[in-house]
Amino acid sequence: MTVIDETAGAPAPATTTAPLLDVRDLHVEFRTRDGVARAVNGVSYSVEAGETLAVLGESGSGKSVTAQAIMGILDMPPGSIPHGEILFHGQDMLTMSGEQRRKIRGRKIAMIFQDALSSLNPVLSVGYQLGEMYRVHEGLSRKDAKAKAIELMDRVRIPGARQRVGDYPHQFSGGMRQRIMIAMALALEPELIIADEPTTALDVTVQAQVMDLLAELQREFNMGLILITHDLGVVADVADKIAVMYAGRIVETSPVHDIYRRPAHPYTKGLLRSIPRLDQKGQELYAIQGLPPNLLHVPSGCAFNPRCPMAQDICRTDVPELHTVGAGRGSACHFWKETLGE
Ligand SMILES: Nc1ncnc2c1ncn2[C@@H]1O[C@H](COP(=O)(O)OP(=O)(O)OP(=O)(O)O)[C@@H](O)[C@H]1O
Ligand code: SF4
Ligand SMILES: [Mg+2]
Repeated sequence: MTVIDETAGAPAPATTTAPLLDVRDLHVEFRTRDGVARAVNGVSYSVEAGETLAVLGESGSGKSVTAQAIMGILDMPPGSIPHGEILFHGQDMLTMSGEQRRKIRGRKIAMIFQDALSSLNPVLSVGYQLGEMYRVHEGLSRKDAKAKAIELMDRVRIPGARQRVGDYPHQFSGGMRQRIMIAMALALEPELIIADEPTTALDVTVQAQVMDLLAELQREFNMGLILITHDLGVVADVADKIAVMYAGRIVETSPVHDIYRRPAHPYTKGLLRSIPRLDQKGQELYAIQGLPPNLLHVPSGCAFNPRCPMAQDICRTDVPELHTVGAGRGSACHFWKETLGE
């Protein structure tokens, strides 16, 4: 709970027990010409230092919008946050002063996006852009900032960093550009990194290299990491826990290994069945039937009910709560016991 110091009108000092990031009952909606789209509908998750939370779900489930709310980069309007808390070390970023927020976002929380080419400035060298972090935030001279830029490029294993520091973004391959994005995010030694589909635009072998690098740096710096992806396959080796989103809600949350062994939600089961497996080569890949819902017309009851092979009458009328179904595990399904096979 956030404790407000009424005399100062500012959040009280953080307690040592508060998680690094604690998102509570977050709601985000967008006003559109056709009505209000509830893109995030009561999402809660937390991340500790040194921990990786993978956020999974199909396109449009609210993964990026949640991240944008944390980073403070939501389009407002049309977006708004009618309810919720985003606590960083126990302090709510939604109610703190603009100055306090600026000290956290970009500095203590950094973000890596999918598309490095559109995130980097095409007319400035990568060395200049990396060095800018130090010139602007830490007041370093051009020369010192350049030395830091080379150090960072070495850290993310860009071969020949010293020779390449003056090159422009388009002179690097996709994988190398994504390493530069990771370097930018690391520059100010953040406590939390949010990586939104950081490897989606890369081919498979490069994906694995970039993901390994990110996981290694996260461990080395003891950072929290929120890894957003629609690929359950990539997270098994890097995540500690998983939150599965569907239509703006978390439908399952679990330590990583439990979810692979025994999913507690039919949607997660479907996602797991859709991962290509080597022992099923040549067989047709399973796909969850139907499409994710239009957020302006979310089905009543459980939003997954039109696509769910286990749906019963109650699923069309009652929204399932996120039930506790085991240690650190939750499932928003009326039939979680049956899903677990209990
Ligand atoms: N600026 C905006 N205006 C209106 N609707 C928006 C806006 N940004 C996001 N949305 C809507 O919010 C919903 C959630 O979007 P979000 O980008 O979080 O999905 P996602 O889970 O990240 O999907 P993807 O896997 O495709 O990246 C979508 O239906 C999207 O259309
Ligand atoms: S609540 Fe019903 S429709 Fe929703 S996932 Fe569970 S069984 Fe399927
Ligand atoms: Mg997204």
